[in-house]
Amino acid sequence: MPTRRMALRGAAALVAAGAAAGSGSATAAPQPIPFGSAAEIDTFRKDPRYREALTRYCDVIVPMNDLKWEALRHDQPRFDFSGADELVAFAEANRKSLRGHTLLWGEALPPWAKQMTTRAEAERELVNHIEIVVDRYKGRIATWDVVNEVIKNDPQPGEPYRDTIWQRLLGPEHVDIAFRTAARTDPKARLVLNDFHFEEPVPGAAARRKVALDICRRLKDKGIPVHGIGMQAHLYAEKGIDVDGLQRFMRDLDALDLDVEITELDVIDWKLPPDPGQRDKTAAALVSTFLGAVCSAKRPKAIVTWGLTDRYSWVHETFPRKDSARARPLPLDADYRPKPMLAVLEGYRRGTA
Ligand code: XIL
Repeated sequence: MPTRRMALRGAAALVAAGAAAGSGSATAAPQPIPFGSAAEIDTFRKDPRYREALTRYCDVIVPMNDLKWEALRHDQPRFDFSGADELVAFAEANRKSLRGHTLLWGEALPPWAKQMTTRAEAERELVNHIEIVVDRYKGRIATWDVVNEVIKNDPQPGEPYRDTIWQRLLGPEHVDIAFRTAARTDPKARLVLNDFHFEEPVPGAAARRKVALDICRRLKDKGIPVHGIGMQAHLYAEKGIDVDGLQRFMRDLDALDLDVEITELDVIDWKLPPDPGQRDKTAAALVSTFLGAVCSAKRPKAIVTWGLTDRYSWVHETFPRKDSARARPLPLDADYRPKPMLAVLEGYRRGTA
């Protein structure tokens, strides 16, 4: 299949170009990078091919929705771990590692949590939630997205945080409380700040990279553990990638002794022309450019896509195409056939990219 080979060569060439430029650790031979996917529980339960694909392609599993407050805390006093437990058991039975997503987010909250009114209540609920959830999976979920999407869309100096119930009731300290509680509950867990829109070639993305670094530096200065930044990497096909900006970001992360992880990779193809083969090639090339930029400067701890097959993806609903054609955001098509993007990802998984 020429397209798969071409995509792979593209990724390798980009990494080689980074190495030739002498950027950081890229001078070392490429190492395999664990690859994984988010798993959605209803699909996991009903579609055996979905389970097979997770088993076959993944080193890492991320419960897509089942560790969110909405799923765990539908009733305020009672935790419902049914979905998360099932996915964790599957990962363990198949010797996959796990990422936990996520302990604090302004979205996917049950109605009662959105109605909290006092600082004391918010702090009590947040601390209690993180203690119970992290403790349940202590030593089993190795990495947590401690906070998700806390950075404002277009941050201005002095105003880094998104307006959420946590920011309204607790102020900037919501991030400190979350990391401190997670670290205290499982001192061996890797703790990550997860966010999006770091890769586009626009000033807003550069500002967001700076804010992410500032938040981590501030946590470290206070003695609160933080181990890395998760880049969601929902890549817009029409927007392109800021290769230089990403490479600088990787060097800044190195300087702060922080890891990077790619946590929710997929391609938003709503503005691309209709031809499916062309869309798949463009998506693979975009992923190749993005991963080439990151990995030539710093090896991520993991590369995780937000699903595996175009049959199921949040991109369909969230970024619908004008022509109503099915979105093609992921490495397998809707019938589980490998697309060019898979070859790019497998190159990194094998360590040949
Ligand atoms: C999405 C899931 O994929 C959907 O199934 C759910 O309905 C909404 O959330 N950024 C995140 C993820 O951090 O948690 C989101 O996941 C996608 C955007």
